[in-house]
Formats: sequence, C-alpha cells, structure tokens
Amino acid sequence: MEFQDHRVLVVGGTSGLNLGIALGFAEAGARVAVASRDSAKVDAAVEHLKQAGAAEALGFQVDVRDPDRVEAMYLELARHWDSIDVLVSGAAGNFPAPAATLSPNGFKAVAEIDLHGAFHVAHFGYPHLTRPGGHLIHISAPQAYQAMPMQSHVCAAKAGVDMLTRTLALEWGREGIRVNSLVPGPIANTEGMDRLAPGEALQAKVASTVPLQRLGQWQDMANAAKLLSSPLSSYITGVVLPVDGGWSLGGVSLAMSHLAQGLNKSG
Ligand code: NAP
Ligand code: COA
Repeated sequence: MEFQDHRVLVVGGTSGLNLGIALGFAEAGARVAVASRDSAKVDAAVEHLKQAGAAEALGFQVDVRDPDRVEAMYLELARHWDSIDVLVSGAAGNFPAPAATLSPNGFKAVAEIDLHGAFHVAHFGYPHLTRPGGHLIHISAPQAYQAMPMQSHVCAAKAGVDMLTRTLALEWGREGIRVNSLVPGPIANTEGMDRLAPGEALQAKVASTVPLQRLGQWQDMANAAKLLSSPLSSYITGVVLPVDGGWSLGGVSLAMSHLAQGLNKSG
C-alpha cells in the first residue's frame, strides 16, 4: 500500500506501537509527524522515521493534557502542511493500581492523558483535517470493553475514547471525515505490555490465550492503520476494530487471572 504525499500525524507516536504505526506510514512513503512530551524521544523518533524512508519527518513536543499546547502544535504543523490526511491519536498512560488505593490524582492523570487528551487532539485537529478524505484513528485498548482488575482508570478512559470515536464519526461524516478506533491486543515489546504483564513467562501465558497463539507485533498495528486509511476502507467509519488475533472473542478475560497473578507478584 502506497501513501506517497499523505500527511500523517501520530500523537503519542514516539515509542511503542504508535511509533510502529508512524514507521509503517514512513515505509510507505508518507510525510510523517510525531508528537509527545519528551523532546529527546521526539528527536529520536524523527531520526527513526527518516531512516525508514519517510518523505518528510517532523516532531513536536506536546503534553496532550494541555489544550493550549495542543492547539499550538497544530499551528506549528500548519506552517509545514496545508492539512492532515491521517491523524492517529494514541497518547496514553497506564499503571496497575486497585481502585480502593488509587489516589484521585492517579485516576485524574490517566483520564486526562487518555480521554481528555484524545478530545484535545480531535477538537483542535478538526479544522486541520483534509476534507473530504481526512481520517482520525483513536488507539483504544481492550480495557474499553473488558473490565480488568487494577485498571479502573484505563477502563473508564478508554471506554470514553471509543464513544468519542462513534460520536465524532456521526458529527464529522458529512464533511467526508472518517473516525475509527483500533483496539490493539497484547503487543510485544511495548511499555503497556511490560507494565501489565511483566516478564517473558507471563507474556507467554498471555499469548496462549490469543486464538492465533502469538502476541501482536507493531507491524500488525501499522498494517491495520494503513488498511483503514486506504481507499479500500473509504466507507468504513465509526467502527471499533480489534487488531488482536481474536483475543476479544474471550481470551482477554481468560488472560485476566494470569495478569492479576503477575501484577500481585510484581507489586
Ligand atoms: P508507550 O510506548 O508508552 O506509548 C505511549 C506514547 O504516548 C509515548 O509516545 C509517550 O511519549 C506518549 N505520551 C504519554 N503521555 C503523554 C502526554 N501526556 N502527552 C503526549 N504524549 C504522551 O506505550 P504502548 O504500550 O506502545 O501504548 C501505545 C498505545 O497503545 C496506547 O494508547 C495504549 O493504551 C495502547 N495499547 C497498547 C497495548 C499494548 O499491548 N502495549 C495494548 C492495547 C492498547 P512521552 O513519554 O514522550 O510523552
Ligand atoms: N501506582 C499508583 N499510583 C500511581 C502510580 C502507580 N504505579 N504511578 C503514578 N501514580 C499516581 C501518583 O502517585 C500521582 O498521584 P498522587 O499525586 O496522588 O501521588 C499521580 O498518579 C500522577 O503521577 P505523576 O508521576 O505525577 O504523573 P505524570 O504525569 O508524571 O505521569 C503517568 C503520568 C503516571 C501515567 C506515567 O506512568 C506516564 O507518564 N506514563 C506514560 C507511559 C505509559 O504509561 N505507557 C503505557 C501506555 S499503555
């Protein structure tokens, strides 16, 4: 799939599977920008994108919790690009903590990054999206549909993200803007996996609960993001699409006891 001259911004795209999505578009010849809080990570990601073959690679330092900063990011980007063809919104924070002991500020930290941050990225990104043809992808999580112990903050926030997807698809469809969520399964070599399923043995147990019997790779997420952004998907909007080897069919709830055991050991 070729994405020459497509302009792709990945917010939260400086590490993990979001960086993988940015790299996937870079390899397909797109112009790619990434943004996150840590400027050293931003600079390293931009280098990575150049090496992967991006037609152009840009980076921005932003904390999605700060609406003014998010708006300023788009104004800076508008000096380079007339509009954004694909906007991937995946900034997130996570740590395991039981609701009974999670502090209000801990809940707020995650809700502000995952949910309020997604709103800021969508709200201030809206005027910059290509019309018709612009595509917003939210990076959701299985916590949006599967209750998980020690994940009250993430479950609440990511469920909100998927409803944001559906609402924005309704509101923006008439302008030719599509909005979809991708729901990654357990993806290898990521911060999220290392925080919730620390260690090789536990990750192997999680993999055994996936119908396809393996953890996902960042390439799986990049391929799905490209497929959903291609003309082949031009009539698809408002969907919440698992990219998870079938984990959402039931394996994710089977994995819960393994995850809880692992987190109890590591905590
Ligand atoms: P990750 O590498 O930690 O990615 C998180 C990204 O968000 C980083 O680029 C981080 O960069 C950025 N970020 C965090 N807080 C931010 C903020 N306040 N403002 C702007 N950027 C911020 O984690 P990952 O595991 O690959 O997860 C990526 C996405 O996939 C997340 O949305 C996660 O919920 C979802 N997901 C992951 C898995 C998995 O198996 N890993 C499964 C399901 C869903 P800075 O630190 O520089 O800000
Ligand atoms: N257990 C319980 N509470 C925790 C915690 C943990 N492991 N980690 C942080 N918190 C609480 C803090 O104690 C604080 O609450 P308090 O003021 O009542 O003490 C609150 O969360 C905010 O912590 P702080 O460190 O100030 O937040 P931050 O804004 O610097 O970082 C996080 C945000 C906490 C989400 C941090 O983990 C992060 O930056 N994550 C990004 C990477 C990531 O999570 N990747 C996986 C994505 S799936």
